[in-house]
Amino acid sequence: MTAAGSTGTPGKRPGGVLNPASSSHHVGMTDTDTTAAPPFTLESPDGRSVVLRGERSGTPRVGDFLEVATDQVRWVVFVDDVTTNPNGTFAAAGSLTHFKHEAPGPAALSVTVRPAATDDIAPLLTNDDERLHVGVLARRPDIQVSIVPKRLNRHTFWCGQSGSGKTYALGVTLERILSGTGLPVVIFDPNSDFVSLNTSRDDADPDESGLLQGRDITILRPDDPDSPLRVRFTDFSARAKAAVLRLDPVIDRAEYNALLHLTPELDGIDADEIVKHLQDLGSPEAAALLQRIENLGLLDWTRTWAQSSVSATEVIAQRPAATVLDLGGYERHEEQLTVALGVLDDLWARRTERRPVLLVLDEAHNLCPPDPDTPLGVAVRDRLIQIAAEGRKFGLWLLISTQRPSKVHPGIVSQCDNLTLMRMNSRADLDVLAQTFGFVPEGLLRQAARFGMGEALLAGGFVALPSVVKVRARVTAEGGTDVPVPLL
Ligand SMILES: Nc1ncnc2c1ncn2[C@@H]1O[C@H](COP(=O)(O)OP(=O)(O)O)[C@@H](O)[C@H]1O
Ligand SMILES: [Mg+2]
Repeated sequence: MTAAGSTGTPGKRPGGVLNPASSSHHVGMTDTDTTAAPPFTLESPDGRSVVLRGERSGTPRVGDFLEVATDQVRWVVFVDDVTTNPNGTFAAAGSLTHFKHEAPGPAALSVTVRPAATDDIAPLLTNDDERLHVGVLARRPDIQVSIVPKRLNRHTFWCGQSGSGKTYALGVTLERILSGTGLPVVIFDPNSDFVSLNTSRDDADPDESGLLQGRDITILRPDDPDSPLRVRFTDFSARAKAAVLRLDPVIDRAEYNALLHLTPELDGIDADEIVKHLQDLGSPEAAALLQRIENLGLLDWTRTWAQSSVSATEVIAQRPAATVLDLGGYERHEEQLTVALGVLDDLWARRTERRPVLLVLDEAHNLCPPDPDTPLGVAVRDRLIQIAAEGRKFGLWLLISTQRPSKVHPGIVSQCDNLTLMRMNSRADLDVLAQTFGFVPEGLLRQAARFGMGEALLAGGFVALPSVVKVRARVTAEGGTDVPVPLL
């Protein structure tokens, strides 16, 4: 049975006595005709968790909220595990969400069961602040689900197969964070999906779009003359410079070492001047580095190097409410990696400032796959592993989105305490997630194979209880939409 860790303190809520009048409100549990399947029994080994048993026709689903009652007493139970037995019965493990009456004891009580009333569930999942509502419970659309913003101080893993609605739902969540919290976000956007995060849809609620318009949402794009996406080569550490130059410290010992020794000389010299400087130096090491720079075509990356313009690191240091880095605007993956490395290294170098920021990586396998094939890829991945392992206490929090858990380095996935799971057919991938995210009821993870568009399981501290949510509509426009199939 799954521990009922996040289900609140028994007896803490004064409104915990269930109001019989409200319990006539039957919603959800559509495939469970509870009145047709008595008898049910309830027992509690420890006074917090419960086991409900009954005929198979009355089997609840993991994630259901049930009102369980005797003649005198009522409880609300959140179901987190269900087993059906060969003899035609089921056993459902769950936790008491809130109650004033005494918990049931270890002896089996005869009980009636029905879907819990809205008034009993909503206080568990819904924050009064509407700006934090990300959607409704998929099976109880009358119940709003809120994110718990103070628990965004953890890393979050966001997973679902391609087309499951990850980017859309991520957009919804970012809009809620921007509307309802002061947490700055930096979005690494490899598909240019968030470049319209500062533009409301025509059909958006004016109040909601007004809230977002009032926030400082900065979009940096390679081709935008006013807000160009750039990094400064001179700001890079020797290690990062070596990565850009594809120098391996062991395989390319001599050149790598030359770069280390030349680094003080190269200080303050940006990419455009470096050729001249290396020529002037005239040493064999400088000549080798020069050849390398020319061979790699680094000087053609005119949309990468800041030179006289403001660099992304300087923008982010000001902590706009959101900074979108349009990595999708570059033709070369190396340029995406270079910009990401510049930004991540700078945030890490300033970590002791302890200024919170949520780093959102959509399609994160671009930046932190298990086995990158270039030194640049390795440098970006390793910095992300370090932020995953040590960044939390400095206010560097990750939100990592990808299609399959195995596409991101396990050292990052294993550090995530929040999970959003969208449609996921692969049983093998669900197995991996079940192992990694042991705190999520496995029955809920398994439901992801049948999720519809926009349905997501949210679990971990950033929601009050693990919940399957139908995400709400977006306020801002999506950037790159799917290419439509030409029709005759
Ligand atoms: N909740 C939703 N409501 C309406 N349209 C959606 C929703 N979620 C996704 N879509 C649409 O479905 C398509 C795929 O969604 P997307 O978020 O890009 O998926 P993913 O990032 O998982 O590949 C997009 O065209 C998007 O507009
Ligand atoms: Mg996407």
